[in-house]
Amino acid sequence: MPRENHERILILGGTAEATAMAARLIAEGKQVISSLAGRTVEPVLPPGEVRIGGFGGSEGLARYLLENHISLVIDATHPFASRISQNAQLACDSTGVPLKALQRPRWEPRGDDHWTSVQDLTQAARALPGGARVFLALGRQYLDAFTGRTDCHFVIRMIDPPASPLPFASAELVLGKPSDEEEECALLMAHAITHLVCRNSGGPAGYGKIAAARSLGLPVIMVERAG
Ligand SMILES: NC(=O)c1ccc[n+]([C@@H]2O[C@H](COP(=O)([O-])OP(=O)(O)OC[C@H]3O[C@@H](n4cnc5c(N)ncnc54)[C@H](OP(=O)(O)O)[C@@H]3O)[C@@H](O)[C@H]2O)c1
Repeated sequence: MPRENHERILILGGTAEATAMAARLIAEGKQVISSLAGRTVEPVLPPGEVRIGGFGGSEGLARYLLENHISLVIDATHPFASRISQNAQLACDSTGVPLKALQRPRWEPRGDDHWTSVQDLTQAARALPGGARVFLALGRQYLDAFTGRTDCHFVIRMIDPPASPLPFASAELVLGKPSDEEEECALLMAHAITHLVCRNSGGPAGYGKIAAARSLGLPVIMVERAG
């Protein structure tokens, strides 16, 4: 008789790593629930069971873990999604459910990169020279720091259109997802971009724009992770 598998794993996701992890664990016969925040209108759904939406803070997450008999939480969220990671830590501490956090290594600059590393978005906005044509590959919630730079032009890429007009003096919106070096090069050239601003997310999915900036010799304002 095969041993009954009581393991029920909650993957906090929204990343390519989380989807891959769900597929791997399901292939091993594990019971997996993937959780998405619900930020994108048409998310790429991981295989298996999926729930979408916030839990209601760390207490809500703790309740969810107990009510759903979760035996392991895997935090595979984006490295800049710090709130949910803190909540996962608190909820697992309070319930005793084990937590495994995936670490995604930072991107490291190469000798032929031209990076200015900054600590936050405010510093990134300050680091731009007047007259720059800036590619911002940041979500809606990260744009406010740049709206005061009325002396720059911004090309803003988003997956979904914003709910309200973006409050920039000079900006254009590009709807789409990160792509490979070749397509990112074409995009940067088509918009005559002079500077790229991005966060040091690490991982392969967003690296095309970094490689493109390198091959075009463009400066990158890189917002580093805290800690
Ligand atoms: N930040 C990025 O640049 C980025 C990029 C790619 C993908 N993502 C993914 O998008 C999600 C949201 O990112 P964020 O930066 O807004 O996160 P965040 O600031 O850390 O989280 C804000 C709130 O969103 C809810 N939430 C976040 N991730 C969740 C998940 N996987 N399942 C259920 N609820 C979740 C939680 O709400 P409650 O407190 O109500 O539980 C959390 O308190 C994350 O899952 C992340 O992996 C983020």
